[in-house]
Parts: sequence; structure tokens; C-alpha cells
Amino acid sequence: GKSGYDHFMLKEIHEQPRSLRQCLRERVSELAGSVSLDVDVDPDGVQFVACGTSYHAALCGVHLFQQAGIPAQAFLASEYATSPPPVDGDLVVGVTQSGETADTLSALREAKRRGAETLAVTNVVGSSVSRECDQTLYIRAGPEIGVAATKTFSSQVVALALLVLSLTGASRHDIAALRDLPGNVQQVLDESDAEEIARAYEGSDAYFFIGRGLQFPVSLEGALKFKEISYEHAEGFAAGELKHGPLALVTENTPVFALVTGDGEQARKTIGNVKEVEARGAPVVAVTDGKSDVHRYADHVLDIPASDQRTAAILANVQLQLVSYHAAALLGRSIDKPRNLAKSVTVE
Ligand code: F6R
Repeated sequence: GKSGYDHFMLKEIHEQPRSLRQCLRERVSELAGSVSLDVDVDPDGVQFVACGTSYHAALCGVHLFQQAGIPAQAFLASEYATSPPPVDGDLVVGVTQSGETADTLSALREAKRRGAETLAVTNVVGSSVSRECDQTLYIRAGPEIGVAATKTFSSQVVALALLVLSLTGASRHDIAALRDLPGNVQQVLDESDAEEIARAYEGSDAYFFIGRGLQFPVSLEGALKFKEISYEHAEGFAAGELKHGPLALVTENTPVFALVTGDGEQARKTIGNVKEVEARGAPVVAVTDGKSDVHRYADHVLDIPASDQRTAAILANVQLQLVSYHAAALLGRSIDKPRNLAKSVTVE
């Protein structure tokens, strides 16, 4: 059942501290300072294939691998076969919650035909993807009933982070960041002002999400979730791309959610982009860990606890999950079964 929540989606958003602990359990040893998985791979490079929310998790995976010095690319599964890249030495990783998505299975088959080794990253034990791939990394999020993927996104990102650390070795800092993540997610859930923000901006013309680095895929994911369940127009952009076109859409009736974490170069540049939208009169909601001064340029702030920059992406995403949920709830939408969508898409 829904354990007292109005919707499975809200229940599943709130399950994330537990689903993340499950993903980490027995894979991270704080004593040994190491990460070990039941997966035996040693790739020269990685190609991800995935759809929708899982594609956004794969884009996060690209960042995590590249930051660790392992070349990585992500492909929309439905586009992979249109110009498949050479696979020599690359591991092709299918990221799919259900393990049944036709586009993803078909991209993996194409990769196999080209001689690639394949790895499934999935939530469902015994799913088609786990039967067809050479190896499987389970994300262990538990069943997800809501059509909108929530807890499985965070567990996919953590599973990919674990994969990187199992290949490159984990520092004390890496281990601490993972250990602190479930508690930090709990803090966001307990203290979020997302409902108030959803109410403040109900009836806007469109909702935009911007971020850099790891926060770019989170911007895409924030917008996807928003449009899926609220049916309102929402788009995610790389913050730096705004001035190359999308800025033309920005008005006083299009709130911009700016994801700004850390206090480095990326934060500084995104704050520059925040000033650009502000100058056009757009309301700004900063999702931030408070390390920069973005709050000075924002109409509202959604706080996340200060943490490692990699886990900050997951925390920011939890805030956006809650904003989408509350926006859709205010509009009385069919949140667990949005129109025109299915939980698993078994046709290409
Ligand atoms: C978004 C959503 C879809 C799925 C996509 C892939 O909330 O649920 O975009 O992420 O259909 O599904 P899986 O991960 O099962 O391959």
C-alpha cells in the first residue's frame, strides 16, 4: 500500500534514505576504505545506453567516470543504432530501471553484435536486460510503482558511483560522502519548502531548470519529472546554453530553477546565468548548498545540506522531485499514472 502517503510517488520519494542504504549495503567497507561489487569489469571506456530518467542517470555516470579519468559517453538508446560508435575495449552499460525497455534492449543487442561486453544496471532481478547482458549490477531500490521514476534515479546514480570507485579505488572522502548521503536526503525530505514554492509559482507559463556539470543532467531530470506529472511546460538547459537561444523564452512568468552547489568556477558561472534571467524579470529559485552567494540573486531558496559535489546532485534532485510532486498535486493530476505514459515501455 501507500503507507499513509497520498500517492506512491510521494511514498517512493520518501523511501530514498532507505533505498540508498540498501544500494550501499555490503558494497562499501568503511573499515577497509574500499568499494567492492559482484561485477568483474576493467573497461578502457564506457558507453551508456538508456532512455528517459535512466538516460539522465547515465549522463551523471558520464561525469563520474570522466572525473575519474575513464572515458565515457551516453547515448539515447533509441538513437544508438543510428550511428553506433566503435566499441573496442569499451564496456556498454544499459541503464534501465525496469530492465524491459525495448529501446535499451535493442541498443544493447546492437552493441553485442559489434562484439562489446555488456553490463546491465537495473532494479529488477531476472529482467530481460539482466538475462541478456554479460553481467548485472542491481540498484536494489525495491519495487517502484509510480510511473514517474524517483527512488530508482538516485539509486542508479549511486550504483554508477560505486562502479567508478570499485574500478579506481575509493578515498576516505568518497566513502564518507556515500555514508552521509542517506541522512542528507532525509534532511532534505524533513525540511523542504518545495510545496510552498510549487504554490508560489502555480499558473506560470513555463518552468525552466538550469545547471552545470553534474547539475546539468539533474536540470534535465527536474524538467522531465515536472512535465510528466504536472503536464505543464518545463525544460532543462545547460546553464551556459541559455544565452544561445532559450533566453528568448524567459519572461516574468517563467520561473527558473537554478542548481548551484559548491563555490567554485561552475557556481560562479551559473550565478552569472542567474543574473541574465533576472535581468529579464524571471523569478529565480536557487537550489543550493549555501556555499556560494546565489541566494542574493534568488527570489526563493531550496536548501540542501553541504556535501560532496557528487552527492549534491542527488540532493538537489530530491528537492526537484518534491517541487514536481506538489505542483502536480495542486493541479489535481493523476500523479501515479500520468496520461499517455506507461511504467515500462516495451515497444521501440
Ligand atoms: C520518467 C520515466 C521514464 C523512464 C524510461 C526508461 O519518470 O519513468 O522516462 O525512465 O521510460 O525506463 P527504464 O528505466 O525502465 O528503462
